[in-house]
Amino acid sequence: MSKLVINTYDKRSRIDKNIYGNFSEHLGRCIYNGIYVGEGSPIPNEAGMRTDIVKALREMKLPVLRWPGGCFADEYHWRDGIGPKENRKLMVNTNWGDVTEDNSFGTHEFFELCRQIGCEPYINGNVGSGTVAEMSEWIEYMNFDGTSPMANLRAENGHPEPFGVRFFGVGNENWGCGGSMRPEYYADEYRRFANFCRNYGEHRLFKIACGPNADDYNWTETVMKLAGHHMSGLSLHYYTICHNWDHKGSATAFDESEWYLTMKGALRMEEIISGHERIMDRYDPHRRIALIVDEWGNWFDVEPGTNPGFLYQQNTIRDALVAGATLNIFNHHSERVRMANIAQLINVLQSVILTDGEKMILTPTYHVFKMYAPHQDATLVGSFIEKEKIGVEEKVRVDDLSESASLDAEGNLTITVCNLSCTDAKKIEAVLVGFKPASVDAEIVTGKMDAFNTFESPENVKAEPFDGVSVTDEGLSFTLPECSVLRITAKR
Ligand code: AHR
Repeated sequence: MSKLVINTYDKRSRIDKNIYGNFSEHLGRCIYNGIYVGEGSPIPNEAGMRTDIVKALREMKLPVLRWPGGCFADEYHWRDGIGPKENRKLMVNTNWGDVTEDNSFGTHEFFELCRQIGCEPYINGNVGSGTVAEMSEWIEYMNFDGTSPMANLRAENGHPEPFGVRFFGVGNENWGCGGSMRPEYYADEYRRFANFCRNYGEHRLFKIACGPNADDYNWTETVMKLAGHHMSGLSLHYYTICHNWDHKGSATAFDESEWYLTMKGALRMEEIISGHERIMDRYDPHRRIALIVDEWGNWFDVEPGTNPGFLYQQNTIRDALVAGATLNIFNHHSERVRMANIAQLINVLQSVILTDGEKMILTPTYHVFKMYAPHQDATLVGSFIEKEKIGVEEKVRVDDLSESASLDAEGNLTITVCNLSCTDAKKIEAVLVGFKPASVDAEIVTGKMDAFNTFESPENVKAEPFDGVSVTDEGLSFTLPECSVLRITAKR
């Protein structure tokens, strides 16, 4: 048995809804043959966007979507993706399988997608192989309301009104695929590029600088020191790799030892965020600058028989646990972490949706994101759960439980708890301080550790109602099955 203590008097930061964001990249079948099928497709669509996918993302309450990459952003030239499609320039997607990119999905299509989903766009600009003028003109194209060369061009292309982008990334992974820069050099480049990213009228930019890879604390130190005053956010990329880059392991065929290796990798997010926060706190003690975890998630070997450059992987209950535990970590750090974007939306790494022709499945990760939606824009409250170390190998022991809790505007309490054990259920006695529940409602995502949805059995794993929560004198009591992510909402 473990005690869970939730103190509703201990109100902390707002959990920015954008923590529940996602990332769409021109990579494999994320955009083409994923969300975008084109207007002529027999698959039901609106302006080329699959209606079934848009509906699912609306239901998941997707708040923000990053585009066009990733490494793809580092070689993307936005002018190639505007105007009549038949005139758009071809390019080779050198990062992802050397496929020919026809640029039929560009700026206008991305904003249309966000409009249909009802989410906010986050555009990532090209520092690696682009120019300052090119970036500056893209912003003028998207945001200037009036007569100007770029605003006129936008109107000629069918959109007289500005698109009004707010979140803008000045470079991606400039320590790697974005130019192999040193942090000192990038900090100067950031300052130069960001200088020409103009605010137009009411359209004020939230400029996001390229931040560190995982635990590269020197990058954060240097960029904060040299360019901190010029940014609104600093990005962080951290992927969970089960073994190493050459052997990432199968997404579906794994044993208990690989289960715990993956959990250990995912829980490292806590240590990594805390490490970067400590540095940021020295340069920005009032926490003006947001930490934006704009790439995260599980990265496994590609599904056998698929293009290695497309990074297509399946998604099991293990991914559900990684999503649930990581989102709990972000909630706890929401004073500094104000956006996160899991990679990638469809058909790539830890995707929420997979497609095969006209078929579509929602992954276990999708169900966790949807189940956690009540945390969006709610207030984090203090919580503590008693944990035990578990695992099959002495050097790979992890905490068995993960939790977070929030109060929404109506005063409803949402608690999310994960049981990371792949063998043992756990009884939880929850003490609720300052909260007497009149009613509770709960949902769970659970199953065998390697359960996943297929196009033949799309509902092997889904969120199901959970009636195992009882109200006690102190609060709540329930037993969490092994491999489970639970959401409880209590009303006064
Ligand atoms: O998500 C795949 C790639 O991982 C992204 O394009 C890049 O930014 C990161 O290295």
